[in-house]
Amino acid sequence: MRFGYFDDSSREYVITDPHTPTKWINYIGTMAFGGFVDHTGGALLCKGDPTYNRITKYMQQMPSSDFKGTTLYLRIHEEDGLRVISPFYVPGLHLPDLFECRVGLGYSTIVSEMYGIRTEATIFVPLDEAREVRDIRITNMRERAVEVDAVPVVEFTHPDALKQYTNADWVPQTMQCRFCRDGVLGTLIQYPFMYRETKINYLTSNFPVSSFEADRKRFLGGNEYGTWAAPLSLAEAELSSRDAERGDTIGALLHHLGSMEPGETKRLITQLGQESSLDAARPGIDKYRSPEIVDEALAEIRAFWSTYLATLQVQTPDAAFNSTVNIHIPHQCYVARQWSRYLSYYQLGLGSRGIGMRDTSQDVLAVVPALPEEAGEVLRTLLSFQRRDGSAMHQFNPLTMEGSEGDSQEMKDRPHYYCDDHLWPILGVITYLKETGDLGFLDNVVPFYEKDKAGAPLESGTVLEHLRRGVAFTSTNVGAHGLPLLGFADWNDAVNLPEGAESLFAAHLWGRAVLELIEMYEHLGEEAEAASLRAAHDEMRQCVEEHAWDGDWYLRYFDDAGEPLGSTENVYGQIYLNAQTWAVLSGFASPDRARRAMDQANARLNTHFGLKVSTPGFDGYNPHYGGITTYPPGAKENGGIFLHTNPWAVIAETLLGRGDRAYEYYSQINPAAKNDRADEYEIEPYVYAQNVLSDEHPEAGLGRNSWLSGTASWCYQAATQWILGIRADYAGLRVAPCITGAWDGFSASRRFRGASYNITVSRGEVAAPTMTVDGEPIDGNVAPMAPAGADVEVNVILPAAG
Ligand code: GLC
Repeated sequence: MRFGYFDDSSREYVITDPHTPTKWINYIGTMAFGGFVDHTGGALLCKGDPTYNRITKYMQQMPSSDFKGTTLYLRIHEEDGLRVISPFYVPGLHLPDLFECRVGLGYSTIVSEMYGIRTEATIFVPLDEAREVRDIRITNMRERAVEVDAVPVVEFTHPDALKQYTNADWVPQTMQCRFCRDGVLGTLIQYPFMYRETKINYLTSNFPVSSFEADRKRFLGGNEYGTWAAPLSLAEAELSSRDAERGDTIGALLHHLGSMEPGETKRLITQLGQESSLDAARPGIDKYRSPEIVDEALAEIRAFWSTYLATLQVQTPDAAFNSTVNIHIPHQCYVARQWSRYLSYYQLGLGSRGIGMRDTSQDVLAVVPALPEEAGEVLRTLLSFQRRDGSAMHQFNPLTMEGSEGDSQEMKDRPHYYCDDHLWPILGVITYLKETGDLGFLDNVVPFYEKDKAGAPLESGTVLEHLRRGVAFTSTNVGAHGLPLLGFADWNDAVNLPEGAESLFAAHLWGRAVLELIEMYEHLGEEAEAASLRAAHDEMRQCVEEHAWDGDWYLRYFDDAGEPLGSTENVYGQIYLNAQTWAVLSGFASPDRARRAMDQANARLNTHFGLKVSTPGFDGYNPHYGGITTYPPGAKENGGIFLHTNPWAVIAETLLGRGDRAYEYYSQINPAAKNDRADEYEIEPYVYAQNVLSDEHPEAGLGRNSWLSGTASWCYQAATQWILGIRADYAGLRVAPCITGAWDGFSASRRFRGASYNITVSRGEVAAPTMTVDGEPIDGNVAPMAPAGADVEVNVILPAAG
């Protein structure tokens, strides 16, 4: 069963049935102002931070039929009275004759037709603006004139989103909402009393407001025994037009659009925003009342995305590959980079989660090519959360810029740091250097996290110094086998072993980072530094090879007593995917072991939904292992298909030169392929999920936690840099494909340091891959840097498949 289709020519996914198994969402704006909008017009919006400055009240846990955050009612003046309809389907729940939610890049458009009225609402946040705009076109499709009223509604939350849910007296005692006339137009402003002079939310429109409502109880009517599905106030000619001095504040503006002739369209533009005061908001409000300005703002968003996506466009024989790599994955990468794991339909945007060091360091890897400056800025910020000893804070709040130790604080008897956080930014910095060639970036001075009482940093260091300390923290904090200590956890948040445990993941990630640094030092001509890192890498490699080979695959952990996890000796968790893939990525695995380990991963972990993170899942709660055993077998980190780990398998297979298997792993998790069985998979087919229940779970195939997952960044890297093999390097653009034998080739256009590279890859009578650049043969596979503005033709011939 399907709920919609891909419309690649418009770069949209079109939902055609509103009864999706969960709300299917899209993101608008950025963390500076924005949030997500669901396919039934609900929206969760914040400015700067979803925990401390949230605007709309959107409760993910409530049923989908519920009204969430924002909606629109229309009122049709029929001969026998007023007919109230919900053009976004909720909360009225009368099925429209036509329903479409077009999930676009930076906007969603909801189209519906019911009772002869067509509504088309495009919802977006203009670039660099602190307002959500709804451009609503209402058309009379009847054969006779009809009179229609439009009532947009917003349910406000206290800006401190947690307080909204935890204090049912203080919040309503403090919330206020009043209406300010502006000629025939009007603006409703809302604030908690304490922010009256400093921070107001506003709801306004470009049409005369005939009456308004500011209080939920009055809007629903009957002491709230009226419902959102049929508010009693909408049966009256006008709303109460009374300000709210307290209570559950909402904004509802009643507009009489007047009599509409057959075919006639009225265009209602609403704005929901936040400013320090109404006076400060006014110029912007006036500006965006203009339809021309709104058209321009939407065109700017389209232009932004065209430029962003033009960084890399590919044409392969696989249409699903093209659609996801050219449109949907880069879109998701951008969104994940913006929101980290902070605000989604699953990540509630509450509490101290904030921006994740590990998560954002990985997200940024995928946006470096399109947004190098922004990526550089993000990397500097991340590094300012590194401690002087080289380890790092786990998370930070984007508004207060306060760091936190995240969930590691939850278990008092376990260490309060993660052993991988500080290593991820190294990959980010290297990616940035290779993309931009801006080696001076290494000399940027960035503070370490520790501050004195006045808030001034105790120490600062260059970016290079930060990287050095990160490397040293891991190589000096080792356990009984000489392998890095686990701390609270590594990438796998849910395995929390008592203090003294060792992590193979940390060893491998360190190994990968060190390989990259060796290459960087070689490029810088700093041979002594390169040599010392080569020796360190070799030492760790020997340690892994000596202690962590289980006979057929690599172990994943040693616990505090030196017992292995990820071994045939274990009842549960005998083999972990990351231990195999990263043994390849780190360069630690010998070629023979690398193949054997990856073959075992294939034999034991692969399912047609994707590769499991481990197997068998723990069947019972056991605090020794920590969070992993809170999940039933087959769910999340406990033997589920934690998708983020799959692209690492794709990359590992390309490093082994096995293009067919890499392609199989890549294709089997393509969300677009789930479109026809969306009733089973349940979530958006246009983005990756974080997790899918595996064959060890009775509901195998069910996806959850879409959008904010490192899966997007790594799948994008796996597809573009490792399968297609197009990756930035210090000296130029490398093209080293590892494609399936089923493809004859592909073409791609890549913008790189201001030049455009047109790449054609085909097969021919060659023994090894050959490359020409503008017709000239090249040794190796790196197309040299071209002057900015140049058009470069790159031709690669691969040996015939077989
Ligand atoms: C979640 C966390 C991420 C972690 C992963 C696996 O997605 O955000 O940091 O690596 O779970 O445990």
